[in-house]
Amino acid sequence: MNQPIGVFDSGYGGLTVLREIVHKLPQYDYVYLGDNARTPYGTRSFDTVYQYTLECVRHLFDRGCRLVILACNTASAKALRNIQQLDLPTLAPDRRVLGVIRPTTEVIGTYSKTGHVGILATRGTVTSESYLVEIEKFFPDLSVFQEACPMWVPLVENGEYASPGADYFVQQHIDRLLGKSRKIDTLLLACTHYPLLLNKIRQTAPPNVTILSQGGIVADSLVDYLKRHPELETQCSKHGRRLFLTTDSTDDFDRQATIFYGDSVQSVHLAL
Ligand code: DGL
Repeated sequence: MNQPIGVFDSGYGGLTVLREIVHKLPQYDYVYLGDNARTPYGTRSFDTVYQYTLECVRHLFDRGCRLVILACNTASAKALRNIQQLDLPTLAPDRRVLGVIRPTTEVIGTYSKTGHVGILATRGTVTSESYLVEIEKFFPDLSVFQEACPMWVPLVENGEYASPGADYFVQQHIDRLLGKSRKIDTLLLACTHYPLLLNKIRQTAPPNVTILSQGGIVADSLVDYLKRHPELETQCSKHGRRLFLTTDSTDDFDRQATIFYGDSVQSVHLAL
């Protein structure tokens, strides 16, 4: 039976997470769903992000997924709790939906020596305060500073992440965030699109600052989760299959997705 692990994002960003997951857990089947037709999510209301995300999760369930990863911080911040608490109990009590914020906040404090960390994210993630709330649970002494970067996702989605135009917006937000505390020694890219801007961020931030992408952290956490949940793990099919779905143009997706995923991609259109 085909019971892939579902990986969801508003667009291409989740592919930076899928890439790391597939690297660590190649044996499983995966179906990736990018809601490119409705991206970006980061500027949308709580209700809209919740409705869009739920619709995509339901579709992944219809495709046989027992486990779905929201590889999108905005969806994890604005939709995950509702889906877990309000929808799953009636919709699919034996299935699981996980996000990317919890695994990241469980480890972030171990990277900082000064105890001051900076979070770069979409406006939606920043205003949800999910990072502040979750980090407080694991590292109550950590000082956390946030910066919303509303232009970064459009730059990445439109293939402008390496252009000179991107320099201005990267510099602007790094300066603003580091201006909030001179002690910040760790920057978290708390949006799965941002790893595409990593080179520019590295060039802009001082060399003593550690820059964290989430892909590897989320993949490690999934390895651990599957070990701790054998009842779910045994239900995930293992034929090494990959399926890519996009709600927008497949030609655009295939061209762009390769850059995020690091391998060629042939997607299938999904009309929601
Ligand atoms: N990649 C998503 C995230 O991690 C956000 C992209 C968007 O704004 O749609 O937050």
